[in-house]
Amino acid sequence: MSDPKIVKLVDESSNRSSELPLISGTLGPACIDIGTLYKDTGHFTYDPGYGSTASTKSAITYIDGDQGVLLYRGYPIEQLAEKSSFLEVAYLLLNGELPKPTEFATFEHDITHHTMMHEAQKNFFQGFHHDAHPMAMLAAAVASLSAFYHDDLDVENPSDRKMAAIRLIAKMPTIAAACYRYSIGWPMRYPRNNLEYVTRFLHMMFEVPSEPLQMNPVAAKALDLLFILHADHEQNASTSTVRLVGSTGANPYASIAAGITALWGPAHGGANEAVLKQLEEIGTPDNVESAVLRAKDKNDSFRLMGFGHRVYKNFDPRAKIIREMCHKVLAELGVNDPLLEVAMKLEEAALKDDYFVERKLYPNVDFYSGIIYKALGIPTEMFTVMFAIARTAGWIAHWIEQHETPGSRIGRPRQIYTGADVRNYTSGDKR
Ligand code: SDX
Repeated sequence: MSDPKIVKLVDESSNRSSELPLISGTLGPACIDIGTLYKDTGHFTYDPGYGSTASTKSAITYIDGDQGVLLYRGYPIEQLAEKSSFLEVAYLLLNGELPKPTEFATFEHDITHHTMMHEAQKNFFQGFHHDAHPMAMLAAAVASLSAFYHDDLDVENPSDRKMAAIRLIAKMPTIAAACYRYSIGWPMRYPRNNLEYVTRFLHMMFEVPSEPLQMNPVAAKALDLLFILHADHEQNASTSTVRLVGSTGANPYASIAAGITALWGPAHGGANEAVLKQLEEIGTPDNVESAVLRAKDKNDSFRLMGFGHRVYKNFDPRAKIIREMCHKVLAELGVNDPLLEVAMKLEEAALKDDYFVERKLYPNVDFYSGIIYKALGIPTEMFTVMFAIARTAGWIAHWIEQHETPGSRIGRPRQIYTGADVRNYTSGDKR
C-alpha cells in the first residue's frame, strides 16, 4: 500500500533536508513517514494531541471524520448495527472476517465457558468502600486478572493471545456486574451458560435470589446494539493507551486495565456519565439556552458533554443511530424520560448556534447513550462501565494486532524541553 511518492523537507536555517516517503493505506489521508527526520535534520516533530499524527498502521477500524463514516473491518457501522450482534462484531474485530456459523458457534462456546471469575478474585471487592466508583473497581479487578494469568502466559504465543482475548471478552460482564452488585450490597451472581452474552450480563446485574428475573428482550437487544456501537474506534485515547502499554510487552490484562483507566476520563468514555449529570443539572428545556451560553463562555470551564469530537467534524454516525434508538427503546419500554426532551432541545439549540457550527461540534456517541442506559435501569455511575465492556473487544483486537505486526517497537515519544538550562548544585546555605 506504500506509494513511491516522496515529500522533501528542507530546513533553510541549516540547509539540511530530508526526503520522506508518503505512505497510503486502503482509505484515508496519506501519511508522511518521518522515521528518518531526526537523523536527517536533527529535528523532532511536535503534535501534543496527535491531531495530525498516525501512531500505527491498523486494519481494524476506519473513520472518515468529515463524512461521518465508521467501518469495522470495512463493514459500515449502520449495517452491523442493523444486522449483526455484539459477539459477532467482537469476532469480526478480532479475526478480520465475519464468522461462518460453525466458527461463531465455537467462538460463542469459548466465550460462554470462560465467563466465571476465580473465586479468590471476589475478595478484591471487599477492600472497596461500598460507594467506590465502579470504574475504579473495574480497573482494579481487571488488573488483578494479570495476577491470575501471568506465569504461563507468553504474549508472543498466538494461542495465549487468543485465550487472553476470550477470557477478557467473557469475564468483563461478570466483573462489571460484580462491581454493581457490590456497590448496592447484593450478592454477586454466577454467569448462566444457558443465556446469550447480553442477557447473561443483565441477569447477573439484576437477578435477585428472592424472585425470578423477568427479562425484557427489548432491553437485551438495545444493550447489544449499544455494545456494537462502542466496540472500537481507531486510535482513541484508551486504545492508544492499551497499545502503548502493550508495546512494552506487558501482560494483556494489565494493558486492558490501563485502557479502562484512560476511558474513565470525562473527556473520553466518562462523558456518557457526565452527559446525564449535565442533563439533570439543566433540568428542563427552559434552561437549555443558558447552558449553551455557558458552553460558549471561554471563562467558564463548562462544556456540553457529549458534544464535539477530535475526528468527527460531522455527525458521529453512532450518535445518529443511538438518537433513533432512544425514541424506539423508551417507547417499547414504556419509559417517558423528560431528559430526552432536554437533550433534543440542547442538540437543536447547539446545532443552530454559530459557535458550534463554526467549530463543527456535533453530538457524539456519549450524548444520547445515557438516556437508554437509564431506561434499562443501569445506574449513572455504571454508564462508562458499559462502554468498557464493549470496548474490550476493540482494545484486545488492537493489542493482538500490535503483537502480530512485525517490527513493532516500544512506544517512546520525544519532547520539547522547556526546563532550566544546565546548572551546578549549590549547598543549602547558598540558595
Ligand atoms: C469519546 O477519540 C475517540 O474516538 C473517542 C470516542 C471513542 O469511541 O473512543 O469517540 C469516545 O471519547 C467521545 C468524546 C466524549 N467527550 C465529550 O463529549 C466531552 C466534551 N467534548 C470535548 O471535551 C471535546 O470536544 C473533545 C475532548 C471530545 C475533543 O477535544 P479536541 O479535539 O481537543 O477539541 P478542542 O478541545 O480543541 O475543541 C475545539 C474547539 C475549542 O474552542 P476554541 O479553542 O477553538 O475556541 O471547540 C470547543 C473548544 O473549546 N469545544 C467545545 C466542546 N468541545 C470542543 N465547546 C463546548 N462544548 C464542547 N463539548
